Amino acid sequence: MVQRMFISNAAQLVTMAGHTAPATKEAMSILNVIENGAVWIEDGIIVEVGTDEGLRETYKDQIEHATVIDATGKTVTPGLIDPHTHLVHAGTRENEYAMRLQGRTYMDIMEAGGGIHATTRATQQATHEALYDQSLQRLHTFLLHGVTTVEAKSGYGLTLEHELKQLEVAKQLQEDHPIDIVSTFMGAHAVPFEDKDNPEAFVDRVIHEMLPEVAEKKLATFNDVFCERGVFTPEQSKRILEAGKQYGLTPKIHADEIEPYAGAELAAEVGAISADHLLKASDKGIQAMSEAGVMGVLLPGTAFFLMAEYAQARKMIDAGVAIALSTDANPGSSPTISLPFIMNLGCLNMKMTPEEVLTATTLNAAYAIGVADKVGSLEPGKQGDITIFDVPNYLTLSYQYGMNHVDTVVKAGQQVVI
Ligand code: NIG
Ligand code: FE
Repeated sequence: MVQRMFISNAAQLVTMAGHTAPATKEAMSILNVIENGAVWIEDGIIVEVGTDEGLRETYKDQIEHATVIDATGKTVTPGLIDPHTHLVHAGTRENEYAMRLQGRTYMDIMEAGGGIHATTRATQQATHEALYDQSLQRLHTFLLHGVTTVEAKSGYGLTLEHELKQLEVAKQLQEDHPIDIVSTFMGAHAVPFEDKDNPEAFVDRVIHEMLPEVAEKKLATFNDVFCERGVFTPEQSKRILEAGKQYGLTPKIHADEIEPYAGAELAAEVGAISADHLLKASDKGIQAMSEAGVMGVLLPGTAFFLMAEYAQARKMIDAGVAIALSTDANPGSSPTISLPFIMNLGCLNMKMTPEEVLTATTLNAAYAIGVADKVGSLEPGKQGDITIFDVPNYLTLSYQYGMNHVDTVVKAGQQVVI
């Protein structure tokens, strides 16, 4: 039997329809909003999007067999997509937050064996089940904040065994939880503390021991590297990303986060799908990204939480770089799971417009993780992933901050948050 869903009478239905992903420049401001809009879904797939009046007429004989969600007075958008998270990890680091408030820096804590190393120790010690339980809770919080697809990185295992454990937890969550998870291998998240005097040996292990196994087990789509002074050099990053390409893994880079380090330039050189962070990206790097069609995934929660300067979103958009936004959800530099709060930060601290931040968390976020053919807009043929906010217009989403406006979440035509 066909499963039908009718989302009716939204005050504003933000469709993002008609774009070729990713949207750049002025196209990032085109939301294609339908007032008094409605969506008809069959077996999880969007069949039609239009006005409430029009769809009621077309489907008048079938509405009684459909699950009807009344969106009167509410704003309906494509399910939000978070394209950069460190979802699977063990523990928290509030002690380091307290240290940073007293003047210690993020990198200095890491160099002393804390930071990513602290979470690596906790993640290595955690059983598969413990990691699963903690990550499941986070996933549920994502859903409550309107997110229907997330990217999830490994990178707190740093040995073959524990990197595989993280990726296998993500795979099991993908099977068990309504949120779709796209996995990224990030064995090169840090040089293990005990190997700090011989980083090349670790780079070799990532390339010859971990990458082949991750690819063979089909546990990841992307391959990411933390290219940063004191972590991986551009040369090491390039070797790792090029090796990943041999195994069919598309490059992503944590680029120019703490210091300018030619990460944006490297992203263009290796043909990365995205360069992420970019707080300190150079003008040359931004230009190179634009020319190579590399997307910028900006993480303003990290600038907020590290009390750093924000990425130059306006400069990037003007240069023609397509922008997506993400939480960077992780225990060290951005312990949040609220993508709507990141939208507020995008507007207030990076001067993006409310239209641009919506594009950056739907259509462009989908593109950043290779799923724009399936989700990211409300158009016939796409999956029925939809978030309903209890606000009368989309402007209110990035105007009222620090509040959760999510009313209902629909994943593949099923109501998952009420
Ligand atoms: O995206 N920069 C590197 N990785 C994460 C932080 C990881 C951590 O501190 O645990 C980031 O900021
Ligand atoms: Fe990150």
